[in-house]
Amino acid sequence: MSGFKLKRNRIGVLTSGGDCAGLNAAIRAITYRAIQKHGLSVVGILASTAGLLERPVRFRELTLDNVTSDYLRLGGTVLETVNKGNPFEFPMPDGTIKDRSAEAIEGFQALDLDALIGIGGDGSARILARLAKAGEIPFIGVPKTIDNDLAETDFAIGYMSAVEVAVDAADRLQPTAASHRRTMILEVMGRDVGWIALASGLASGADVVLIPEIPFEMEKVCAHLRARHARGQNHAMVVCSEGVRLASGETVSQAYADGEVRYGGVSAAIADIIAKETGAETRVTVLGHVQRGGSPCAFDRILATSLGTHAVDILVQGKTDRFVVWQSGKVTDVALDAVAGKTRGLKLDGQMVQAARRVGICFGD
Ligand code: F6P
Repeated sequence: MSGFKLKRNRIGVLTSGGDCAGLNAAIRAITYRAIQKHGLSVVGILASTAGLLERPVRFRELTLDNVTSDYLRLGGTVLETVNKGNPFEFPMPDGTIKDRSAEAIEGFQALDLDALIGIGGDGSARILARLAKAGEIPFIGVPKTIDNDLAETDFAIGYMSAVEVAVDAADRLQPTAASHRRTMILEVMGRDVGWIALASGLASGADVVLIPEIPFEMEKVCAHLRARHARGQNHAMVVCSEGVRLASGETVSQAYADGEVRYGGVSAAIADIIAKETGAETRVTVLGHVQRGGSPCAFDRILATSLGTHAVDILVQGKTDRFVVWQSGKVTDVALDAVAGKTRGLKLDGQMVQAARRVGICFGD
């Protein structure tokens, strides 16, 4: 679908998937641009597709009175979000799976909107793209995820703020590691990619960084730490991504009461091996959702403003099925299919991996 025209001058926006810092900054940018430049009205759909499945549909009008510049600073998402309950495979209370996509589309139609802007990651983009296609809803995606693993965009909203949190944590761990001659293992989020681990390890001067993109051997990690000890440096910092695989090829995850399986805890196994093999006293910090909350860093505010305003502009130009992206310092847009359901890990010959190797960071490979 392309070349559509806004008829009602009314667009919807929602946030979908795990939250992160910078979502409200994007909501502000979309609202300001849509109203001030294009004279549109903006409806915030609450709780993503879950809001579209409720009756009445949950939404709030976004206006210049209720969306203020405080949104730039505000963590979380005022529109709420969900990262489960795919309407195409909706888990019903009786344990069955039902396709509720038609209900979600009806919910959207009930709002009498021309088009939808969805702020989400790869999984949300896939679901929203499918929903938009099925419902013939003009759709533009805006990238967000602390994992920074969305294809086509150098940066997704929320990533840099998560890195700032991880760097702050590492900076706080460094002196206590030195005081006690300990090896600290800092486990950061990033599901199946190492963007947060590597950026925070580079910025905080970690000795070892373990990421899913680079298979590692604990013996090499321990040899690196023993060499460091032999030079008289009796403390060390290891940053690892929650999704790294152990020598057995296993990741470490837990099944929770809600049936979901989530990563977390691999650092304990790593700490154990380091303690046994190097004699170092080890301690573990698992940062978890601290990385998702809080006020966005300046870069995320700028990114969210740039991407959000561009999303509105291309919608008004009649573009649809596009994803707005940040490439080499510029905002542009690409086909939705190039992003939806795709992931992007760190490149082994990329800038950050190379910089880390140049300063002697050990990847255990
Ligand atoms: O994808 C973002 C992310 O924060 C991952 O880094 C993490 O593994 C996951 O979401 C946590 O999800 P939940 O909020 O459901 O625990």
